[in-house]
Amino acid sequence: MIRIVIPEPSLVLLIGAAGAGKSTFAARHFGADEVCSSDGLREVLSGNPADQSVSRRAFAILHRDVERRLQEGRLTVVDATNLTEHQRRPLLRRAAAAQVPTIAIVLDLPANIVRSRNAGRDRVVDPDVVERHLATLRRTVDGDELHREDLAGIILLRSEDDVARARIERRPTPHEGGRSADRAPVTHRSADRQPGRVPDDESSTTRPNGRARNSTHTPLRR
Ligand code: UTP
Ligand code: MG
Repeated sequence: MIRIVIPEPSLVLLIGAAGAGKSTFAARHFGADEVCSSDGLREVLSGNPADQSVSRRAFAILHRDVERRLQEGRLTVVDATNLTEHQRRPLLRRAAAAQVPTIAIVLDLPANIVRSRNAGRDRVVDPDVVERHLATLRRTVDGDELHREDLAGIILLRSEDDVARARIERRPTPHEGGRSADRAPVTHRSADRQPGRVPDDESSTTRPNGRARNSTHTPLRR
């Protein structure tokens, strides 16, 4: 089992090429009401999840939804490729403003699996686009980009087997709310925990100061 500890509330960024299995992973591990999907918003706006002409508007809505949800102390999963620092930055900024940690779950599957999954589904993404995604992901992972960002946990799933063995463990964490000082805490305070802290645990993906403990190259296994 690969145990993925998710503080609740937190922002969960799924990262991966088109066809890597982000939406499948989101549907398996999270409630539909917890997932903000760029494809879903493009579909609402244009009737077509692949219509890139509405991407700008879709992401404007997605960023606003994420901001509101995090300010309310709700676990929020972003189902988008999230491949570049530029794409992740507006999301990380909103999590920091709401004082919730961000966890990255990277679906770094072998390129051939991603290509064949994309080719075999109803909505085939242009293979050139998938190649660009795969190349960007390589730079992100191999260049250790994620370690330079304000992430409380980085989980790298590198095979179908890793993905199949992943289990999400939610860990309720007191949340003081976002910018407003008089906002009521969304979760109750407990004496042994402080806001924003994640209890330490040998198998946890995060440590109490909210910084990643594990190498991005070594997913936690149990
Ligand atoms: P997804 O549709 O979940 O990929 O799976 P994605 O990352 O969200 O892709 P984009 O970014 O929205 O384009 C792609 C295909 O792979 C299959 C799914 O059924 C789908 O047809 N798949 C996914 C598997 O066969 N096994 C898995 O574990 C995950
Ligand atoms: Mg998807």
